[in-house]
Amino acid sequence: MLLVEATWKEIETYLLDSQAIVIPIGSVEQHGPMGLLGTDAMCAEVVARRAGEIGGFLVGPTLALGMAQSHLAFPGTISLKPSTLMAVVQDVVASLSNAGFRHIAFLNGHGGNIATVTAAFSEIHAQRSLQQDLDNLNLALRSWFDLPGIRKLLADMYPKGHGSHATPSEIAITQHLYPHAKKMAPLDPQIAADGRFTDAHDFRRRYPDGRKGSDPSLANPEDGAKLVEAAAQALAQEMVRYTNK
Ligand code: NI
Repeated sequence: MLLVEATWKEIETYLLDSQAIVIPIGSVEQHGPMGLLGTDAMCAEVVARRAGEIGGFLVGPTLALGMAQSHLAFPGTISLKPSTLMAVVQDVVASLSNAGFRHIAFLNGHGGNIATVTAAFSEIHAQRSLQQDLDNLNLALRSWFDLPGIRKLLADMYPKGHGSHATPSEIAITQHLYPHAKKMAPLDPQIAADGRFTDAHDFRRRYPDGRKGSDPSLANPEDGAKLVEAAAQALAQEMVRYTNK
């Protein structure tokens, strides 16, 4: 069930059986010369929604904007500062826990969100510890590409040229979902450089077309469909322990 397509009465009934919800979280940021700006939000959303169908749990609205400061030198990127994203996560958790949700999992599509969302969880737990809040509250952060079995699948699909940004796997998922928006572009070099970076200007200097370590021309929609199904099955499996069904 999708929260945005439900009524409050349906959510009240759902909470009698289960207090679990998954919130997709992504980013709107450059994804190289072929990748869509919405890639990370699109990937998180489709995996969470498919997992919700498999596992019968509630999926909340997608938090499309994330912490993408290092991509700000490329136009189209919209980034929340770490402090802003922490505030958003804290407010989302406060709203849901106030309604009775006790198992709140964020399904993430962007590596750059991980440190900030984890820090937001620490802030929430610190406040609860100091207030001696005794209600159970489980917060989880899972990235679709780190779910059990997915790294192995990625290594098998793309033995060379997967890389770490504008990867063929995430672009394959968007080609599967949005075939009308598929883009092609010349890539030079075919596999981009990879490594460290600091701020957005440093990122663009080191990685001028926006890719890191990847060859997105390896993407195809069939692989995208397989990745969505595998990640959704893995997420549904992880959620079993939180759903009282
Ligand atoms: Ni991405």
